[in-house]
Amino acid sequence: MEPDGPASTPRVVLGVSGGIAAYKAALLLRLLTESGHDVRVVPTESALEFVGAPTWEALSGHRVSTDVFENVHEVPHVRLGQQADLVVVAPATANTLARAAHGLADDLLTNTLLTARCPVLMAPAMHTEMWTHPSTQHNIRVLKDRGTLVLEPADGRLTGSDTGPGRLPEPEAIFAACQHALAARPRDLAGRHVVVSAGGTREPLDPVRFLGNRSSGRQGLALAEAAVSRGARVTLVAANVELPVPAGVEVVPVGTTEQLRQAVHSAVEDSSGPPADAVVMAAAPADFRPADLADSKIKKTHDGAAPTISLVENPDILLELVQRRRTKNPDHSPAHSPGPPPVIVGFAAETGDERGSVLEHATAKLERKGCDLLVVNDVSGDRVFGQQETEAVILSADGEVARVGHGPKQDLAHAVWDAVVRRAEWPHEPAVDR
Ligand code: CTP
Repeated sequence: MEPDGPASTPRVVLGVSGGIAAYKAALLLRLLTESGHDVRVVPTESALEFVGAPTWEALSGHRVSTDVFENVHEVPHVRLGQQADLVVVAPATANTLARAAHGLADDLLTNTLLTARCPVLMAPAMHTEMWTHPSTQHNIRVLKDRGTLVLEPADGRLTGSDTGPGRLPEPEAIFAACQHALAARPRDLAGRHVVVSAGGTREPLDPVRFLGNRSSGRQGLALAEAAVSRGARVTLVAANVELPVPAGVEVVPVGTTEQLRQAVHSAVEDSSGPPADAVVMAAAPADFRPADLADSKIKKTHDGAAPTISLVENPDILLELVQRRRTKNPDHSPAHSPGPPPVIVGFAAETGDERGSVLEHATAKLERKGCDLLVVNDVSGDRVFGQQETEAVILSADGEVARVGHGPKQDLAHAVWDAVVRRAEWPHEPAVDR
């Protein structure tokens, strides 16, 4: 087996797909190796039409192959992805993006993409028509939804005489994005079990109708993906989430608030091991449900009278989590429970009104709920729901206030885990091998 670099050397897989810009990947490779990264190059067959294997082998110091049937005893199709700290694909052609978006595994690069649990960075390069085509744009959205980082292609001279968006960003720009992706992903949740709830619950009214809300589950998915990339085992309790679930996440699909409640409690109290280390309630459970569920569809009466729907209040799961922790661990000390108490995080979608500002309402809610952290979104005027980007304030029960500026939901997800790690009373060494 080929020797790896020292354990502290960041391991990067450089995927190269078949485009004229493949020659620029050789410069990126140089920047990575000279700054102390151990780089394995995984070209596609067509990339080798542009730049041959000897160039990649000489510059990386490692053997290069494109398919999964070479060096089978080393299981490279699994090992490369599993061991990488970063996978960067430059150039990422329309074909490679499509194969990645559809989860194909027909060469070593796509196998590596499927086994990687580290950040994945795509640097697309192609002709403008291919870049702007709805198929490519759809694939980009799918990849971004799963947490893949996708660089915007540069605007400029393309292969022939034409110009436009689709040009591979300069190697220095891709290198800077690689450094950012590596720096932004500590493995500080390695060996931890975290539970995240996502999406909006639906409370049935009759066989065809329900009371629901507009939560898409995007923020919960971003939290799950971020926790996986930081090394956690993640259970995602997903209420009616239709978006793709990030790789490496255990999903428990639920519909109603009662189902969400049961799934969250049993994931947190995990009968197969110690209780979870953290629980983040990013879901929007319905506060109320219809008092009665009609067996058959509620019909119009044709006399103009509308039916009256009586509601009953649902249990507050976040509050229950805090109460259960208190009962199990009365003086909040690890000595009284099988493990350190889980860090409990709530979300609050707030609007300001005549009784107070968003932050005033949120501070009161943090106190009322008794959780450790409250992530506060200002939802006045259609903000946040279903959007790719967000901004928030993370309030901590110890008075710390962290503002997370407007940006991808992934950034907020990492800020939440940063705050969880700061609050946690976990021992320094995580309980591994759960
Ligand atoms: N939550 C919960 N169980 C519920 C309702 C909400 O666990 N039945 C959680 C949410 O997942 C979120 C937090 O509580 O983390 C805040 O939800 P929110 O609806 O804002 O709280 P409420 O107490 O319902 O406050 P409000 O009076 O503003 O509706």
